[in-house]
Amino acid sequence: MHDAGKVTIGLVIFLALVSAPFWYNLSSGRASYTPEVEYPKDAESCVRDSAYMAAHHMDLLDEWRDQVIRDGQRFEETPDGGRRECSLTNTCLGCHVSKEKFCDRCHLYMGVEPYCWECHIIPEEL
Ligand code: HEC
Ligand code: HEC
Ligand code: HEC
Repeated sequence: MHDAGKVTIGLVIFLALVSAPFWYNLSSGRASYTPEVEYPKDAESCVRDSAYMAAHHMDLLDEWRDQVIRDGQRFEETPDGGRRECSLTNTCLGCHVSKEKFCDRCHLYMGVEPYCWECHIIPEEL
């Protein structure tokens, strides 16, 4: 069994590589690993606070959908008294202009595949 040592070393290296994102998180102080995504360049905030968006954007989309389809309510009021359209394509992707470099990049990494785009239009990428 003179190979046992090599196997152990191999295992240690393997585990170190596999857990690298985790260690990276601990050292950078971030709560969870997220892939590099491209944020809008000319906006500072989302339609809700960013912690809520990170965890619950799908719930907000469901709310918007219900509001539009069931109640025919296409707009919501913004905190500064303006009006915002409750629209996946026009609003979310109007600001997050690259679905590919934002939504997809994160979803691919997380292994989620929303089926919305069978019907909803993806604006042409610039
Ligand atoms: C006016 C521009 C704008 C609109 C409209 C907008 N967002 Fe955002 N969104 C941002 C910005 C800017 C951030 C980064 C905010 C921050 O870091 O504080 C963000 C953050 C997020 C995050 C968190 C990403 C992360 O790394 O944690 C998600 C998810 C998200 N948006 C999804 C959506 C969805 C879904 C919609 C539509 C319901 C939407 N956004 C509408 C500008 C926008
Ligand atoms: C920072 C990472 C991240 C970004 C950016 C992000 N998402 Fe997500 N999204 C997730 C995760 C993680 C889930 C799965 C959550 C769960 O299953 O509880 C998810 C789930 C969803 C779902 C529900 C899918 C399902 O089958 O249940 C929708 C819809 C969705 N995202 C839309 C969007 C849209 C639209 C954008 C871009 C505007 C976006 N997301 C950007 C991480 C992200
Ligand atoms: C089978 C087709 C279909 C699929 C799949 C679908 N939708 Fe829709 N959705 C519609 C239709 C039709 C409307 C009503 C369009 C209108 O009146 O503007 C709508 C409206 C909406 C609205 C409000 C209006 C707007 O412009 O965005 C939201 C938000 C929405 N859907 C979110 C989602 C999300 C999130 C998913 C994926 C989890 C999804 N939809 C999947 C057909 C679909």
